[in-house]
Amino acid sequence: MTSTEINPELESLLDYIKRNRGFDFSGYKRTTLSRRICKRMQIIGVENYNDYLDYLEVHPDEFVELFNTILINVTAFFREPQAWEYIASEIIPGIIASKPITKPIRVWSAGCASGEETYTLAILLAEALGMEQCSTRVKVFATDVDAEALSHSRHANYSIKEVVGIPKDLLNKYFDLVNNRYVVQKDLRRCVIFGRHDLVQDAPISRIDLLVCRNTLMYFNTETQAKILDRFHFALNDRGYLFLGKAEMLFTRNHSFSPVDLRRRVFTKIPIGNLQDIIRTMADSYNQQPVPEIVDQIRIHEAAFAIDPVAQIVVDINSSVLLANTQARTLFNLNPLDLGRPLQDLELSYRPVELRSRLDQVRSSRRAITLKDIEWPTADREMRYLDVQIIPLLYEKTGDLLGIKIIFSDVTRFKQLQNDLVHTNQELETAYEELQSTVEELETTNEELQSTVEELETTNEELQSTNEELETMNEELQSTNEELQTINEEMRQRSEELNQVNGFLESILTSLRAGVVVLGPDLHIHIWNRKAEDLWGLRADEIFLQHFMSLDIGLPLEPLKQPLRAIIAGQSQSHEVLLNATNRRGKAFQCQVICTPLIRTGSQIHGVILLMEEYDELNEGI
Ligand SMILES: C[S@@+](CC[C@H](N)C(=O)[O-])C[C@H]1O[C@@H](n2cnc3c(N)ncnc32)[C@H](O)[C@@H]1O
Repeated sequence: MTSTEINPELESLLDYIKRNRGFDFSGYKRTTLSRRICKRMQIIGVENYNDYLDYLEVHPDEFVELFNTILINVTAFFREPQAWEYIASEIIPGIIASKPITKPIRVWSAGCASGEETYTLAILLAEALGMEQCSTRVKVFATDVDAEALSHSRHANYSIKEVVGIPKDLLNKYFDLVNNRYVVQKDLRRCVIFGRHDLVQDAPISRIDLLVCRNTLMYFNTETQAKILDRFHFALNDRGYLFLGKAEMLFTRNHSFSPVDLRRRVFTKIPIGNLQDIIRTMADSYNQQPVPEIVDQIRIHEAAFAIDPVAQIVVDINSSVLLANTQARTLFNLNPLDLGRPLQDLELSYRPVELRSRLDQVRSSRRAITLKDIEWPTADREMRYLDVQIIPLLYEKTGDLLGIKIIFSDVTRFKQLQNDLVHTNQELETAYEELQSTVEELETTNEELQSTVEELETTNEELQSTNEELETMNEELQSTNEELQTINEEMRQRSEELNQVNGFLESILTSLRAGVVVLGPDLHIHIWNRKAEDLWGLRADEIFLQHFMSLDIGLPLEPLKQPLRAIIAGQSQSHEVLLNATNRRGKAFQCQVICTPLIRTGSQIHGVILLMEEYDELNEGI
């Protein structure tokens, strides 16, 4: 699924989370979100978003796990050291220099995670100002939406592994080593104010000189990024700085920030000018033209009228032609004798446009008339265009009508130009549209590239976080392994002890003069000692676990059957009998057999012990 495709199930899950926990993930990139949520779903073994929603309803604890998975808290001290070097050498000194010593310096670390970025900032400011001035002047606001990460930040307590990015001298200067962990010194800690703040929903902090928001914007979609950037614009002082993460760019459409150093992702706020600024700028560009002197010599008037490139004639109140300038004479083929004639006697009165009625209209209304684009075909069949103005000439003092001036402006060139312009305009519009669509394509490509880069960066962060998870698992496995080794060692010792006891019992059994046989409750043979082997000519391994009554030896077994059962049933304590037997060498003898119960725990009977001995020998022994 692409990041723009909407999955209704995922959307209703996000809506559920927002309604229940107030966390609004709707502005986050869908690809990242779905990947992180699916990770949780896999762990708990549910297959789709709807089932996961049901699971959340029944197991509210899962919210914590889900948020921990979505809000990736990967961070580090002096993350991307070159960018921080630039902040230390260029930006922080610039901010300090631009402010009187009495003014506070306000810095915002937005999306601070577990505080490493925040303390990096505080260290650099303390280095630039000295600890004393830093604690009185500097306020570093550190915010994140993740309360757990914030609590870690507030403790300001880091493992040896977590502080590897801090240069040795700064580590020694700003941290105390307590119980093998590094704790931020109190003075530095006091410069920082931590608070829970949601970049999407909460109002921004204001009057900020440096806003650091790194590797956080990239989780949001373009619209949400734009909204957050608007808030950042508001938050910053004029000429305040915005410092983003390596993978983050401001889109080309953003006109509120301009890059200071694009490679290090440092931008500055472009202040929005007010109306007064704009008006002043415009006023500066005006030049006052000197007013020309009024020249009242009639000759000049006449000459000026005559040479006017625009054709003009003047008629008196009776519509007789009074004046016609050179241009009009040429254009309408008038000769000096036409002056003084009634206009209606001239072709001009109806060609190129009907003038008589218009003159009447102007005469009665005392208002000018303009006739536009009057077509006038020329002798060579080309079309000429005229604008005709019919203007009443009024005596200033009384308002009486003196005459009427008719101006014929040749607008053919203008008309052509206009046509050409319309045409060119159309071409330009087409070209512009093409250009526009090319620009849009480029912008889209750029944004796609950007979001691919961000995706890669996110994946990288996730890989880092997976790596961290693997490291944790590895540590757990190591400790389990150590426990197993201990158990193994104990087992080995037990086994040795058992072997010793076993050997001891073996030697007792072997040393006994009597044949010893131990039977289980089912009368199968468990022990058959050396003397028994000597007596009956069968090795222990031949008869192990065989039924005693099935043996074929020189001892009649039938007389023992009943007594053995009685002992196992607990009906008899012992049984002693003399049986005529034949040993393995074929010698007949009287065998004394003593049967006693094998008792282990309490009085439970687990079998029978049989002692077998030649009766004569026994007597001799006595
Ligand atoms: C990858 S960390 C970046 C930490 C640090 N700025 C850095 O670059 O090392 C992203 C942080 O953004 C936080 N975050 C995610 N959504 C947020 C939101 N809506 N408001 C504030 N912080 C958010 C996460 O909780 C996480 O701590």
